[in-house]
Amino acid sequence: MRPFAELHVHLEGTFEVEQFVDIARRNGVTPPSWDVDELRSRYAFDDLQSFLDLYYENLGALRTEEDFHDLAAAYLKRAALAGVRHTEMFFDPQTHLGNGIPLEVVFAGFGAAVDEARRDLGLSADLILCFLRDLGGDAAVETLRAAMPFRDRFVGVGLDSTEVGYPPALYAEAFGIARSEGLRRVAHAGEEGGPENVRDALDLLHVERIDHGNRALEDPDLVARLRDERIPLTVCPLSNLALKTAPPDLADHPLRRMLDEGLLVTLNSDDPAYFGGYHDDNVRAVTEALALTDSELDLLARNSFEASFLGETDRARFLAEIPGVPGPLEAG
Ligand code: ADE
Ligand code: ZN
Repeated sequence: MRPFAELHVHLEGTFEVEQFVDIARRNGVTPPSWDVDELRSRYAFDDLQSFLDLYYENLGALRTEEDFHDLAAAYLKRAALAGVRHTEMFFDPQTHLGNGIPLEVVFAGFGAAVDEARRDLGLSADLILCFLRDLGGDAAVETLRAAMPFRDRFVGVGLDSTEVGYPPALYAEAFGIARSEGLRRVAHAGEEGGPENVRDALDLLHVERIDHGNRALEDPDLVARLRDERIPLTVCPLSNLALKTAPPDLADHPLRRMLDEGLLVTLNSDDPAYFGGYHDDNVRAVTEALALTDSELDLLARNSFEASFLGETDRARFLAEIPGVPGPLEAG
């Protein structure tokens, strides 16, 4: 199986309905229904905000270290089955803090699942702490300071939640602190917001990858910059269909143009429990809809490791498994 890194997945977006019901039951939380089909029938979205409203509502069921462990462990097991060999997983600590859950509980649960995945599944996994845009810049700074005692548990910071109305400039201080602490930096931009958010995330937040970035295609100068500076875009095709941030037919997905423009694009699942598919489902769907060739799939696999925050030794080890990349013997 071709190895892939997954670089854009929200652990909170891997909360499957069945697991939601189990965890709600054991925590004495009453869900809107105990029927999984009825709960799943609510998974039809008009836009990003209508999804986020349900996503945050469901997260109220998470209370204990075991809950956070079980959520991450289920995703990691599924990702390994999908052929993912390295994953960089977003999480939203502010949501859990808002629900009265201390950071210690969140880090302990997610951290234990990461350690187990490395040990038992041979899956390399790292955490990226995301700031919620709609809570503002001061809250982002406060959250980062509160998370610094757990600095060894996360490799970087990201920016997610409602994009429109919350431009990158608001989070410059938080990202500046993250940079000075040696944390890696990514941001959602150009998902619903315009290309100016992509440019400002690069210039004001000094991000190293753009999450989504679809709307960057509206600006030819920006496209040239992304290509020339080899800035990765973490693209999420099934998410774009579910949230109507791409045309309704996957055959018209901007991934085709991004590849043709020579951009460093990667394939990802975003919130797989909500959008109908994990990493392998996304790969399968775009392979079919866009008639991706084997060499394009090899390129997407290579891009995923090139865009990752892995150290050079691990990156080279994974790249050597993908056709088109010289192995250690051929390289010299
Ligand atoms: N949080 C979880 N999924 C998200 C997405 N697709 N965009 C912005 N914030 C998110
Ligand atoms: Zn996302």
